[in-house]
Amino acid sequence: MSDKQRKILVTSALPYANGPIHMGHMVEYLQTDIWVRFQKLRGHDCTYVCASDSHGTPIMLKARELGVTPKALTEEISADFVRDFSDFGVEFDNYHSTHSKENEQLVGEIYNRLRAAGEIYTRTIEQSYDEKEGIFLPDRFVRGTCPRCKSDDQPGDACEVCGTTNTPESLIDPISVLSGTTPVKRESEHYFFKLSKHQDRLRQWMSEATLDKNVVSKLNEWFDAGLNDWDISRDAPYFGFKIPDTEDKYFYVWLDAPVGYMASFKNLCDRSEHLNFDDYWNKDSDAELYHFIGKDIMYFHTLFWPAVLKGANFRAPTSVFTHGFLTVNGQKMSKSRGTFIKARTYLDNLNPEFLRYYYAAKLGPTIEDIDLNLEDFVARVNADLVGKLINIASRCAGFISKEFDGRLSELLPDAALFSEFSDASDQIAEHFERREYSKAIRQVMALADKANRYIDEKKPWVMIKDEERRSEVQQVCTQGLNMFRSLMIYLSPVNPGVAKDVRHFFNESNWHWDNASIPLLDVSLPKFKPLLTRVDSDQIQRLVEQSQESITVAAAESNDDTISIDDFMKVDLRIARIEKAEAVEGADKLLALTLDVGNSKHSVFAGIKAAYDPETLIGRHVVVVANLAPRKMRFGVSEGMVLATGPGGENIFLLSPDDGAKPGMRVK
Ligand code: MSP
Ligand code: ZN
Repeated sequence: MSDKQRKILVTSALPYANGPIHMGHMVEYLQTDIWVRFQKLRGHDCTYVCASDSHGTPIMLKARELGVTPKALTEEISADFVRDFSDFGVEFDNYHSTHSKENEQLVGEIYNRLRAAGEIYTRTIEQSYDEKEGIFLPDRFVRGTCPRCKSDDQPGDACEVCGTTNTPESLIDPISVLSGTTPVKRESEHYFFKLSKHQDRLRQWMSEATLDKNVVSKLNEWFDAGLNDWDISRDAPYFGFKIPDTEDKYFYVWLDAPVGYMASFKNLCDRSEHLNFDDYWNKDSDAELYHFIGKDIMYFHTLFWPAVLKGANFRAPTSVFTHGFLTVNGQKMSKSRGTFIKARTYLDNLNPEFLRYYYAAKLGPTIEDIDLNLEDFVARVNADLVGKLINIASRCAGFISKEFDGRLSELLPDAALFSEFSDASDQIAEHFERREYSKAIRQVMALADKANRYIDEKKPWVMIKDEERRSEVQQVCTQGLNMFRSLMIYLSPVNPGVAKDVRHFFNESNWHWDNASIPLLDVSLPKFKPLLTRVDSDQIQRLVEQSQESITVAAAESNDDTISIDDFMKVDLRIARIEKAEAVEGADKLLALTLDVGNSKHSVFAGIKAAYDPETLIGRHVVVVANLAPRKMRFGVSEGMVLATGPGGENIFLLSPDDGAKPGMRVK
């Protein structure tokens, strides 16, 4: 073992169970998974937990819209998450949900401890309220004109055009996105956590937690601005946990979400022989605790969360590892460009090992954004992973199996060269430990170049023609395969799928990091099967096309039953008088109507023949959509649509206003 065994608990942020996992999320789950696999390979006792973040207003409303319970909705979405993660090789020790009994119990306990310690108080605040829907509105559910740059339709938290921080109250002409009505202000009692009093303790924590320098400067900015107390309650209706001793107050989703880390771990401990919850979470715990997160949720993890933990007398995180955001082809992921790529769409088209390799080759420990450039992706995977690394094995394995019955030689012909591969062990490990994955990959690839040069120089394909040099071929190929094996061990946290195939090829039941320093000699290997094939740019093209498609379908589905009030106002509904009504030759269901809409006449085809005798219709008033674009039908052009109700067939009832109606009158 490389050093003393460490006890480490690692988390990734809990994904919101209200939409699919996409390439951006995968940066985080792959970054974390690589680190965890590395720690395990080094022999440490490392545990990786995650969960779905299942609470909050958006999830509640989405469930309502779909006519299912929020619990059912989040369970269904979580099942997709689990499949996506697992197919990408992300190996959690436990995946749970924040809507769980463990979480409810832990949130309650933390709240009670905070309250007992005088960390909680209540205050009445004013908030935007949608009277029509009977619900307090989260900031993002109020939209209006930005007071600063005057862009319209901006959300109530921050302007998407000029970036200024707004509140629902500061917007000009605010409306509720739920009902389209103007929100009113309403008072309600809220529960607050005294974040302000933790300033000193948080500064202390910051100095110990070895954070990225950009994170530290962000924290200092926040400290300088002064910390505000944190509103941890929300009013009913809300999907979450009810605050103890209240009737209609719920914990804000961001209070119970990080507690979900503990809850998932608790759920695992309850099933595990060797893991003990208190060993990891007690104030004096000697276990290490790391949260991997994206830069957008730093405030929650570097201020609220450590303060809540300390306030409730639990330990704080050892560190918070923050990554940047993913761009695709240098830009924000975009549905119209087809670069908003879902995890599932990727998996339908490409090998997950490729993305793991590519992200690793780009990732460092900072909050800098990372770019998935699709052309570069193809080039790097093909040139480096397949063309350099895998190629070492392809060049050597054939000779060993064909010419030497799969047997490796008893010694290495160039021990000094192999030492370069084993000596790199500490430095590569250091890179992984510090999350300098791009440096680790660069070092592995530099060694792969060396291995290839060695084979180029020895030319086993030439030697094999010379009977006297046969045994030399066996040795050279044994050398080549051993260099390859060491590199694959180093790379196995990044590419566990390929590594597993390689390990099976070497007939080994498991690998430890240190195995890379000991060559494998004088053993028989099975027949070599090709490990990876190159990416084809057609596959990328298909990926982009399908990403465009799947979004259009999704957008159409989600908009199926809703139009905005503006859409509705565009419909010009008017009274029309039926001047002429006659059957249409060759059409079973249609009547051709001539409508008087005040100052114009419209010819309209209506499918009402089974319900009305044309004669009886003449002179009647009906409601018509007067501004429908003319449509060419089989029997002629239709210039409007007559509104009717009823199940159809003989039972169609025209919406005919009473006799006071005049052709051309507007209906709404
Ligand atoms: N539910 C919260 C986290 C609660 S943790 C107690 C949340 N969920 S999320 O689904 O929106 O994001 C999950 C993680 O994915 C976050 O760390 C977020 O930063 C990360 N990413 C989401 N989109 C991303 C990119 N486009 N690029 C990189 N990471 C991204 O936040
Ligand atoms: Zn603005």
